[in-house]
This record gives sequence, C-alpha cells and structure tokens, in this order.
Amino acid sequence: MTDLDLKTSTTHPAPPDVRGGWRTPDRLYRLISSPVLRMILGWDLPRHDLRVVSRHPGRICLEVGSGGGFYTTALKAHLGSENDLIALDPSPSAMRSLQHQLNDKPGARMSYVAGDGCKLPLADNHADTLFYGYSLEEMPDPLAAIREAHRVLRPGGELVLFLWRPVFTRHRRRPVIALLDELFERRRAAAGPQNIRLVYRKQ
Ligand SMILES: C[S@@+](CC[C@H](N)C(=O)[O-])C[C@H]1O[C@@H](n2cnc3c(N)ncnc32)[C@H](O)[C@@H]1O
Repeated sequence: MTDLDLKTSTTHPAPPDVRGGWRTPDRLYRLISSPVLRMILGWDLPRHDLRVVSRHPGRICLEVGSGGGFYTTALKAHLGSENDLIALDPSPSAMRSLQHQLNDKPGARMSYVAGDGCKLPLADNHADTLFYGYSLEEMPDPLAAIREAHRVLRPGGELVLFLWRPVFTRHRRRPVIALLDELFERRRAAAGPQNIRLVYRKQ
C-alpha cells in the first residue's frame, strides 16, 4: 500500500462514526497470541516490530490493550530492567494470567492494570511511551482514547500504534489519523497489506 491512506482527510470535516463495534473476547487471547497465526495474518514479529520503541533508562511505558501479551513479553525484554512497563487491558482475569506468565521473564519492572484506554488511570504527563498493539481500533471511542494518550504522555514522549487494517477501515481511521496528526508530530509511518505502524511524538 502507499502512504495515501495515512493522509489526513480534508474531505470529511464531520467525523463519521469511528467507534469500535467489537472487543476480542478474553477466551480468544491465547489464540490471537499464537506466533504462527500472527505470522500468517499480519506478519507480526514482536522483537522486530518493537525496535521502533525507543528506550532510555528510567522511563515509564504503558501498553494499552495488552490482551494475551503477544507484545508484552517482547516489550518487557526490549525495555530492560531499568524501565517500568504498565500493562493495561479491560479484562482483570487476562491481567492476572499475564502477570503469572511474565513473572520470571527478564526485563522491565511490571505493573498490571485492569482499565479502559478511553479513560486511562494515570496522571497527566506521566508516561514516556505509550504502545497500542491493535487495540485502538477496538475501543468504544478511539478519538477519546487518543485525547487520553495526549493527556498522560509527557511532552517529548512517544506514541507507538499498530493498527489492523481489516478492522480499521479507511472510513473509520481517517478521523483518527487526522486527530493524531493534529495533536502529535508524526515521526514514522509504515504500512503493509494487513497492518499500519505509526510513531508519534508529543511536542
Ligand atoms: C486484537 S486484541 C490485541 C491484543 C494484543 N495487543 C495483541 O497484539 O495480541 C485487542 C485488545 O484491545 C483490548 N481493548 C478493547 N477495548 C479496550 C479498551 N477500551 N481499553 C483498553 N483495551 C481495550 C482488548 O481487550 C484486546 O486485548
């Protein structure tokens, strides 16, 4: 695909309905965390994909919508022991099993929070990095979620988003990309047949 899809729309001044109509059920978290399935569906390779996430000692990273932890294990290792990683998902039981799963894995200091990406339980300017692995498109209000991301990210902080194109159609993502481009500075945009990977910076 070209980066045409990622341009901010000027032809849709009134945002169409961008709300997510689907939330991956907890019982599917294990299935969607299968490396083989992810290779086939989206060419997702956690260690490779997460190289876009910058790391410096003493940082706080929040992963919003960690699900079964497909990216969380690699993110924990990538950030390393001098950083903090908060995993957040609406499902309390998923958070408990993720905690169990990652207990003895090396890497960042972990916290687990059952919460909503549209109403983040963090103070203003608290996080250095926010990571969304195919979760923004499921949120009931992605535009509110982006405003929340802007609120909790410190100035100079990094916002990394992976979007799943079959779910986040052009019609739905246009106003979302427009808001992202309005609130943040776009640093990177890459797109494959199934996914879009974006990196923004808060000024
Ligand atoms: C397709 S799954 C991706 C999970 C994981 N990041 C991965 O790559 O396997 C979408 C995730 O978004 C989460 N999600 C849906 N609505 C959410 C919300 N309002 N706040 C935070 N996460 C949400 C779901 O619970 C689910 O874990």
